[in-house]
Amino acid sequence: MPHYELALNGERVAVEADEDTPLLYVLRGACGLRGPKFGCGLGQCGACTVLLDGDAVRSCVLPVSAIGALKVVTLEGLGNPRQPHPLQQAFIDEQAVQCGYCINGMVMTAAALLARTPRPTEAQVCAALENNLCRCGTHTRIVKAVLRAGS
Ligand code: FES
Repeated sequence: MPHYELALNGERVAVEADEDTPLLYVLRGACGLRGPKFGCGLGQCGACTVLLDGDAVRSCVLPVSAIGALKVVTLEGLGNPRQPHPLQQAFIDEQAVQCGYCINGMVMTAAALLARTPRPTEAQVCAALENNLCRCGTHTRIVKAVLRAGS
């Protein structure tokens, strides 16, 4: 089976996987991470979003063989309970989570937005998140959390 060395959350991580294995499966399987979620598996819901050299990408449709030396950051790489990323803290402060399944994708997509646009308008936040699905309907609080993190 092919070997890959991923630049993952600031570390070099060696994994074995078939070349067309989705990055999401490698992250949740061999790497044991639980931030990225499997939602649709079709690149449509955003639950599996990670950062790839700073861009928000859908890891369920990204083969591990396509990663190369690009830097992968997952939710775990943004922050942790002791040192949360400002976005993670803002999501807590705004009580933006209901079931929580979409939140990985919301936070990672917003992280990419804030890296490009540190003080986005509400319209920019809504546009960035429009393809991230939340079935609980907490979009209003999610948008408020991103605006709080960007203020
Ligand atoms: Fe990847 Fe839905 S699980 S976009």
